[in-house]
Amino acid sequence: MDIKLRMATIHPESRDLIAVANCEFELAREISIDPEFKGILAERMNHFFYPNRKEHRTKQILAEVSRGVACYAAYSFLDNNVHLDSLYVKKCFRGFGIGEKLVYDVIERARQIEFDEIFLISPKSALPFYRKMGFVGGQVFENAQELVFPL
Ligand SMILES: CC(C)(COP(=O)(O)OP(=O)(O)OC[C@H]1O[C@@H](n2cnc3c(N)ncnc32)[C@H](O)[C@@H]1OP(=O)(O)O)[C@@H](O)C(=O)NCCC(=O)NCCS
Repeated sequence: MDIKLRMATIHPESRDLIAVANCEFELAREISIDPEFKGILAERMNHFFYPNRKEHRTKQILAEVSRGVACYAAYSFLDNNVHLDSLYVKKCFRGFGIGEKLVYDVIERARQIEFDEIFLISPKSALPFYRKMGFVGGQVFENAQELVFPL
């Protein structure tokens, strides 16, 4: 499958905004989110509409196929590390290596800026996916676990 990765352009008139928001909503619908995650989601929506605020350092990558956006990842630069905020592959595009390709792309970008590690909170269902790529376990929650990828 021909997959093109590119950074999303996020501003109120951008078509990418719709693609990113759709992926966020589908992600929130699919993985069970507790109130804490809902707060994170609300904060991210805020980011879409006020992308120029200095405190928002979230970046979005889109994986496009001929039929449109198949997958999306969002990550934020923190002080010494990178937080993978979201990763969502549309259901009909799963199992083609797109999710893995996007995560490796984030890893490569983080390496170039010389960050220490990438971390994220993964739902239980996605733990094997991240572990396969070399993420290692951190704090365990009821339905999720913190994972870290040392750079
Ligand atoms: C988890 C997710 C991102 C995987 O995307 P994907 O494009 O289907 O994954 P890939 O095709 O790149 O898979 C890479 C490898 O991981 C394996 N894998 C993928 N998802 C897996 C899962 N849930 N459990 C076990 N293995 C999995 C694949 O079989 C593949 O292994 P292989 O190389 O031996 O064939 C996708 O299923 C998804 O969007 N899920 C819902 C949202 C979610 O959980 N996001 C992550 C947390 S925010």
